[in-house]
Amino acid sequence: MRTVEWDYENNHLQLIDQRLLPGEFRILRIEDSQQAGMAIRDMVVRGAPAIGAAAGFGMALAGMRSKANTVVELIAELNQAAEELKSARPTAVNLKWAVDRLIKTVHDSEGDDPERLRIDILRAAQQIADEDVAINMRMARHGADLIHDGDTIIHHCNTGALAAVDWGTALGVIRMAHQDGKKIHILVDETRPRLQGSRLTAWELEQYGIPYDIIPDNAAGYYLQTGAAQKVLFGADRVAANGDVANKIGTYKLALAAFDNSVPAYCVAPTSTIDRDTARGDMIPIEDRPQAEVLALTFEGRPAAPENASARNPAFDITPERLVTAIVTENGIAFPPYLTSLSGLFG
Ligand code: MRU
Repeated sequence: MRTVEWDYENNHLQLIDQRLLPGEFRILRIEDSQQAGMAIRDMVVRGAPAIGAAAGFGMALAGMRSKANTVVELIAELNQAAEELKSARPTAVNLKWAVDRLIKTVHDSEGDDPERLRIDILRAAQQIADEDVAINMRMARHGADLIHDGDTIIHHCNTGALAAVDWGTALGVIRMAHQDGKKIHILVDETRPRLQGSRLTAWELEQYGIPYDIIPDNAAGYYLQTGAAQKVLFGADRVAANGDVANKIGTYKLALAAFDNSVPAYCVAPTSTIDRDTARGDMIPIEDRPQAEVLALTFEGRPAAPENASARNPAFDITPERLVTAIVTENGIAFPPYLTSLSGLFG
């Protein structure tokens, strides 16, 4: 099934509960827009494109569960739901992008029939989800040409089918290269503290039959320095107009080590992740997650920190554009200088 899917029989949203993987595969039913917001905040669903698609269906739920009898009342409730959904996670721009796209649908829609508007919103949300899969396939096709037979690739976080509606971004490229028959090996950054690499990426790679090893995040520099890895691949939660990339914490250090060892570092992200209204990476809001995510880690079944320890937990960092070799999108591959190459992708 898709990571984010509408159940047309029962009119609710279905999400794969990513908090439980790899131990348990469970589908969570989401019945209203508040639950959709909570699922995004609690990371039942995570990864920039998946969050965008889930928020789109969250808007559809807001429309469907509303008791409004007029279009004016319905629009007021949809605006409120839009603000709540957008506040669920601040860094991934796909969330804002998807919700704003649905609000535009609402304002473009004509007539005074609230029922009609409800149908239009669901149709627009479904379109975002369907487009996401098609876009990921196109990105994967462009990106796979950058991968060589025999490459060992360091991959950060989870950027696969679980981070999108299906197929994925950077992991989608890896999947396509594997399907093309290239023999590749993946070094999976475990991605502390939530372990999206070892819990989710490794789980996906097993299903695709792609050989991998999980590595501690801080081992990546060693493998790059010793020539054991030929490529670095990651996704993005937001790309600024100048090409700076906001992505999962640790991406910056990984890209620095790749740069120092002349290993190409590719970012794979759809154009919906490119925020042309944000000039530079330092203008992107970085989400602070609860310290409990860091302190809850255990070592050999015992607490990994003193009882009264405090922690800091920024969820993302900014990789300056000078460290990014290229940005792979569905409309082609952008190379530096990004200010012009990225805007060229929008025609
Ligand atoms: O905090 P998460 O798990 O939502 O972070 C996800 C990432 O950082 C991904 O690398 C990013 O969304 C791009 S891949 C779709």
